[in-house]
Amino acid sequence: MTAGPWREAPLIAGNWKMHKTPAEARELVRSLLGQLAAELASEVLLLPPFTALEAVVGELAGDPRVRVGAQNCHYEAAGAFTGEIGAPMLAPLCDYVLVGHSERRHLMGESDEVVRRKLEAVLAAGLLPILAVGETEAERSAGVTEAVVERQTQAGFAGLSVEELGRCTVAYEPVWAIGTGATATPDDAAAAAAVVHRVVAELNSGGVAVRVLYGGSVTPSNAASLLSAPGVRGALVGGASLRADEFAAIVAAAG
Ligand code: 13P
Repeated sequence: MTAGPWREAPLIAGNWKMHKTPAEARELVRSLLGQLAAELASEVLLLPPFTALEAVVGELAGDPRVRVGAQNCHYEAAGAFTGEIGAPMLAPLCDYVLVGHSERRHLMGESDEVVRRKLEAVLAAGLLPILAVGETEAERSAGVTEAVVERQTQAGFAGLSVEELGRCTVAYEPVWAIGTGATATPDDAAAAAAVVHRVVAELNSGGVAVRVLYGGSVTPSNAASLLSAPGVRGALVGGASLRADEFAAIVAAAG
């Protein structure tokens, strides 16, 4: 198995969701930069809303410790899609784009097929996709967690070249753990990560591995144990990423 250079380190990503004006974003970045260690063992990624991307990039001023990504994009590069943003429009501002977050799958009705098309659009724009997967509470109760993670991973990645797959990251986010304070156990996270790693290995004959993040109520107090789950190599943080002190503490917990 080989790993792309960006996958050697854990990735700690902050998904700001629908929060922060440009001015608030600048303030959060300033505060965060002041609280991060000078040298980091992890890659740190901020996912602000589209309207704050430029402010975040400007405030970072090329600081090599922090990278920037978008929370979503459209599956077409450009066209008559009122209110949407194409991946090529993000390329000057971002390295990463998140696709398939459960809030988009479940609140905005995005199917596996739509998520797949978005992932392809991200790759075509030369960006790095983060594919979010995870089961709902009902699916967990029905005992189909592994089947859901397997289906979403397969649908997202089937048919990609080894080179394309090598640019992808997966975020396992059990829907029942998002914003609820309920977290998966490290064993739950490891079991889901194992499914992702198996599917990816099957899809490309073991040629390349992807980095798997855990997301869902990650806090400074549970980060270290979740990040030490076998097969997990980072975190996708929601609420705690809106506070510089908490997000910096999670980055520190990653080692
Ligand atoms: P919380 O950390 O607020 O549970 O959100 C997780 C999430 O959805 C990150 O993408």
